[in-house]
Amino acid sequence: MRILTIIPTYNELDSLPKTLGRLRSAVPASDVLVADDNSPDGTGALADRIAAEDSQVHVLHRKGKEGLGAAYIAGFRWALERDYDVIVEMDADGSHRPEQLPALLAAVDEGADLVIGSRWVKGGSVVNWPFYRQLISRTGSTYARLMLGLPLKDITAGYRAFRRTTLEKLDFDAVESRGYGFQVDLAWRVVKMGLKVVEVPVTFVERELGSSKMSGNIVVEAMLNVTRWGLAERWNQLAHRGGERRG
Ligand code: GDD
Ligand code: MN
Repeated sequence: MRILTIIPTYNELDSLPKTLGRLRSAVPASDVLVADDNSPDGTGALADRIAAEDSQVHVLHRKGKEGLGAAYIAGFRWALERDYDVIVEMDADGSHRPEQLPALLAAVDEGADLVIGSRWVKGGSVVNWPFYRQLISRTGSTYARLMLGLPLKDITAGYRAFRRTTLEKLDFDAVESRGYGFQVDLAWRVVKMGLKVVEVPVTFVERELGSSKMSGNIVVEAMLNVTRWGLAERWNQLAHRGGERRG
């Protein structure tokens, strides 16, 4: 299994080297692609220095801050141009513990098309996450689950492993979400294609260094998109049933 872990970065100068070090020792087989949005703090240059010393680390330099979703899509395209079998999403700040990656990879091995490192299944948890972030995450997941009929507990989770064939089936040009709603978008597309999605419990540990890029805009974008998709889906089902009755 050839594995690529994509780590999107925006101003992660202090966190990135620690996370990279932990990942390289936890799963030495995994190559790494840092997808940096031209971080003003010089994260991109630091990643270049690490890559110069470690042939399994690669860096994708992007023009500017375009959001998590855009950075991941660029990383997915990079991976599909090469011969990776499994592509992993991981935050740079240590919240997604590299030591738990083997559990995600094992689920891929057992046949999952997408594995989600989940905070909200039995055995999953969050450490040091402020109450309001837990509330946003739980409420957001519940809303998306009901609105989109998704059988998942942690729909916005950003710790994931995709089988290559899953990414090959996705139409990246059709993905509009810029922010963290991107995660909901992809999960929904994968479930709708009838692929096998498995949630594996993880412990999400809030970052110690740097700061979150989460914003009100990101939450609003995600909520609006989920509402729009959910309503469109219901409308389509109604129209379909009407058509059946007539036809
Ligand atoms: N390249 C790039 N461009 N990277 C970005 C951008 C961007 O515009 N915005 C954020 N990132 C990177 C950060 O540098 C970090 O590595 C990762 O994306 C996650 O960003 P955080 O700002 O640390 O996210 P969080 O801890 O608030 O949010 C977590 O929970 C969300 C909701 O459940 C993450 O796990 C998200 O993935 C998750 O969707
Ligand atoms: Mn974080």
